[in-house]
Amino acid sequence: MKVAILVGSLRENSYNKTLATFIQKRYAKDIDGELLDLNLPLYNEDLESDLPADVVAFKKEVHDADAVLFVTPEYNHSISGVLKNAIDWASRITPDLKEKPGFIVGASMGGLGTVRAQMHLRQILDTMGMRILPANEVFISAAHTKFDEKGDLIDEGTVAFLDSVVANFVAFYERNK
Ligand SMILES: Cc1cc2nc3c(=O)[nH]c(=O)nc-3n(C[C@H](O)[C@H](O)[C@H](O)COP(=O)(O)O)c2cc1C
Repeated sequence: MKVAILVGSLRENSYNKTLATFIQKRYAKDIDGELLDLNLPLYNEDLESDLPADVVAFKKEVHDADAVLFVTPEYNHSISGVLKNAIDWASRITPDLKEKPGFIVGASMGGLGTVRAQMHLRQILDTMGMRILPANEVFISAAHTKFDEKGDLIDEGTVAFLDSVVANFVAFYERNK
């Protein structure tokens, strides 16, 4: 299963990027994940007549993927502008996310681990008919305490839960493809 991984933080030492890389490596047997570059120009309808090359490349990666993994930070109780911008680009000209299967994880330094951002994200993705894995909600709170210096998740309970969510997603994908 080819999975486009969309990380909503551009920060070099982003916990969400670390989480995405951990998932990419740990579940490589089940999912062929690729982290996409979301450092795209701000969406502007005027650019649609002559799409920037990086937007074309991004849209193709999403379009060609079998599924999408969203790895979201929480900014001011919602998703980041970076992630929303990427979703907006993916939704235009060719509807690259339409009816695609996907799942959501997120990490934040706060106590709720991106709960509010993920609620918004599910609502946004519903508008394009994405088939997001229901019920499996991965909220990684206090992210600054959950990774070691190699970028591995060190919280055993979180890793075990993530194992079950990825297994559930693989089964969901197989049932619905
Ligand atoms: C503009 C901004 C808004 C933020 N708002 C929230 C928030 O609403 N809830 C929360 O838990 N953390 C919030 N944070 C803290 C983030 O959880 C923290 O910066 C986290 O490390 C961001 O993810 P990253 O490590 O992947 O970049 C905010 C951070 C920024 C920069």
